[in-house]
Amino acid sequence: MIKTYSSHTQIEDIHDLAGHLTIVIDVLRATSTLLTALKNGASYIYPVKSVSDAMKLKQYHTQALLGGERGLEKIEGFNYSNSPFDYPMHHIYNKQLIFTTTNGTQAMQKCSGSAQCTIAALLNASAVVEYCKSSPLPIAIVMAGTNGMFAVEDALCAGAITYGLSRTHRSDDLGNVCADIFYKHYEHKSFFAGMMEGTHAKHLVDNGYREDVEFCSKYNIYDIIPTYREGVLTIDDNRRRT
Ligand code: MLT
Repeated sequence: MIKTYSSHTQIEDIHDLAGHLTIVIDVLRATSTLLTALKNGASYIYPVKSVSDAMKLKQYHTQALLGGERGLEKIEGFNYSNSPFDYPMHHIYNKQLIFTTTNGTQAMQKCSGSAQCTIAALLNASAVVEYCKSSPLPIAIVMAGTNGMFAVEDALCAGAITYGLSRTHRSDDLGNVCADIFYKHYEHKSFFAGMMEGTHAKHLVDNGYREDVEFCSKYNIYDIIPTYREGVLTIDDNRRRT
């Protein structure tokens, strides 16, 4: 049975997901941006909860770039924000990145006690489905949500995964509802419209980030499956494809 969480705040302890393959989702925008940075060649990413944790880590990884957001905007003194457009190859290739966002990186840390952990967005949803099919572990899907609340853009991605796994895995009720939400928009090729049903996409568009929402609504443009282990997000060499 796939366990589905509508927000990382439902996970009380990092050991709650011990023994699981956990998929962390924050479509707008943390996991979409992290996937883009890795696709464009970032070597290692250190997702952290707070700005002060980022600054502490920077003392040990002096060459690392700093990225992320608070209140949607780039953090003072940081190199880049939480927009996928901030991470083209010429910014990030072969670089390390320390990264913090309001919800997404907190969700990742909550899942750090899993046996295996990766991140998903619509951008790599089908690759994640195939990866899950090849794993013997029970699966947990953790949507970051927005400030502890369910977010429809994360449900689209969670649903892409539960729908893709429906022949081989049973899902809990939330996973099945997410699959219905996904399928409705898949059929009508309307992921952007689906995201715009949510408050976070509207908030981003109202603040000038329509292009980010459009980009994050692209489906299956990446085939990467990063690994998040011991505080580091990376692509194992045998999974790094061009
Ligand atoms: C988050 O982690 O809360 C989001 O990625 C916020 C954002 O859209 O920048």
